Amino acid sequence: MATDLSRSVHVTPKSKFVRHTKVPTVIFETSSELAKYVASVVADLVRSKNEAGVPTILGLPTGSTPLGVYRELIRLHNEEQLDFSNVITFNLDEYWPMDPDSIHSYHKFMHENFFDHVNVKPENIHIPRGDIAAEEVDSFCEEYERSIEKVGGLDLQLLGIGRSGHIGFNEPGSARNSLTRLVNLDPVTRRDAASGFFGEDNVPHHAITMGVGSILSAKKIIIMALGEHKASVVKRAAEAEVTDEVSASFLQTHTNSLFAVDSAAAAELTAVKTPWIVGNIEWTPQLEKKAVIWLTKEVGKPLLKLETEDFLHNHLHQLIHKHGSVGQIRQRVFDELLEGICTKPAGVDPKRVIVFSPHPDDDVISMGGTLITLADQGHDVYIAYMTSGNIAVFDHDALRHIDFVLEFHKLFHPDDEATLSHLQNLKQDIDSKKAGDLDTPEMLGIKGLIRKTEATAGAEVAGVPEERLRFLNLPFYQTGQVSKKPIGEEDIAIVADLLREVNPHQIYVAGDLSDPHGTHRVCAEAVINAVDVVAEEGIAPEFWMYRGAWEEYEPHEIERAIPLSPEVVLRKREAIFKHESQKDSAFYPGSDKREFWVRAEDRTRNTATVYNDLGLPEYFAIEAFKHYHGEL
Ligand code: F6R
Repeated sequence: MATDLSRSVHVTPKSKFVRHTKVPTVIFETSSELAKYVASVVADLVRSKNEAGVPTILGLPTGSTPLGVYRELIRLHNEEQLDFSNVITFNLDEYWPMDPDSIHSYHKFMHENFFDHVNVKPENIHIPRGDIAAEEVDSFCEEYERSIEKVGGLDLQLLGIGRSGHIGFNEPGSARNSLTRLVNLDPVTRRDAASGFFGEDNVPHHAITMGVGSILSAKKIIIMALGEHKASVVKRAAEAEVTDEVSASFLQTHTNSLFAVDSAAAAELTAVKTPWIVGNIEWTPQLEKKAVIWLTKEVGKPLLKLETEDFLHNHLHQLIHKHGSVGQIRQRVFDELLEGICTKPAGVDPKRVIVFSPHPDDDVISMGGTLITLADQGHDVYIAYMTSGNIAVFDHDALRHIDFVLEFHKLFHPDDEATLSHLQNLKQDIDSKKAGDLDTPEMLGIKGLIRKTEATAGAEVAGVPEERLRFLNLPFYQTGQVSKKPIGEEDIAIVADLLREVNPHQIYVAGDLSDPHGTHRVCAEAVINAVDVVAEEGIAPEFWMYRGAWEEYEPHEIERAIPLSPEVVLRKREAIFKHESQKDSAFYPGSDKREFWVRAEDRTRNTATVYNDLGLPEYFAIEAFKHYHGEL
């Protein structure tokens, strides 16, 4: 008999079981904790089936979410003899049409990330085929279902979840009893896949996917979600009504399913966002601050006007019991926020400051106002651009720049035939490039140059001269593709060298969970590691974190608020405008269609409104920061 997963979860100090969801949910502190747990469930199952001499039937997903699980399973195979020779796998889906050898195919993905490194027998691997003719699709799908049945059904199905709520590619509108079939991809799904395909236009419109019914017939299901961009769909799937608008909500009807999420993906769950609503909790000063700020919104009053009955009527009576009256807690939260407002971010005496910018525009987009303020107040501000950002430049922009250089040469060096023909060839390379082709290293170099010169111009507007810019070109980024290498010693050493060179009093780092392809997070890891290295040499800068272009810190998280005047906001906008290759329509806009400068202004104006609504001073715009306390 299948064990009930929710009861068999080994809750470590780093994971938390949530009771108030309709699908049992475990929150892991980090994605690697989650991956280890899920891999251990797979490994236990495979081992027990191996001992019993029967095959293990696994349903497998692709995507970024399960990568850590596959890595851990490979490790278990290599280091702990986990034997996959009697494992039969069925993948959830494949784009259609899709050549199995294409870099975008799920065939390729599965082989590169898992099958090539373990001993699953090739004949035991099943992946829907993207290379079959339209008229064969239906019979192929029926056969796929039959082959799952023939081996006795799936013992364990692993799933990711799309922002459209899909499991497999069962987009909104998929029926509970749907089976393997050809489907249309939702626009949200195509947009999310755009970065991997070098643009939304290249993303296929169709896929073959196992149905909701095929998935639900598995004996056990673990659905995984990582990152805050999944937080709202996780809430809908795990807490709201069962609806075919969110296919993952059908898991509520399965008796042995489990949501495994990291803390970012759990952020919208009631038990995380407003735990005081669901029962007794252990109050910490940070949670009290969060609750009181939440209360101001609930009752539409500023902090200092909150009254006892507001607490009593909104699940916060425990706070009154704890503190005796509302006066003290109300004032504490108000004072903390007020003390965090700072018009001289590096103090009065001249200081050395490094702003670490993961891509060449995060500096001005996310903290351009503070950058301007620091430079204007006479501090020595350095900007370290950590990656070249070269994969986010459109071909047509590269073409225009090559054209400029070509025309320049024709005008001033008409006899330099070698250069002229080199430039013509580069133009031709772009003209003959097919959708999805990777750039040559030379083209990546050109695209990197475009971003470098834009960054230089943007920094100039912000008041940071060229000699204080550092282009680190960290090696982890240099794959020419969206997927990057993990952080390495070399990356850390480059950052450590810069810290030694400048010996800064203060550093600013993008401390992001929400970066769509993880570069911000990896860059933050490089700095954190490098700071540890140089700490032993007595270099210990104040460490502030800002957030990238997507989200802002919640008000209770903000530890420093830098007010921006209308003039500073305007200068910041001009600095962002210098990033021409990212204007109008960015290569990787994520889920937000607004231009970067609009997002930046909306975000800082919104923070100012939040402060104003809390009864704090009224500012035009605010940039927010958090102290680094040892975790992102
Ligand atoms: C992949 C699949 C999809 C993904 C989902 C999440 O085989 O069926 O449902 O699991 O789109 O993708 P990531 O993990 O990339 O966010």
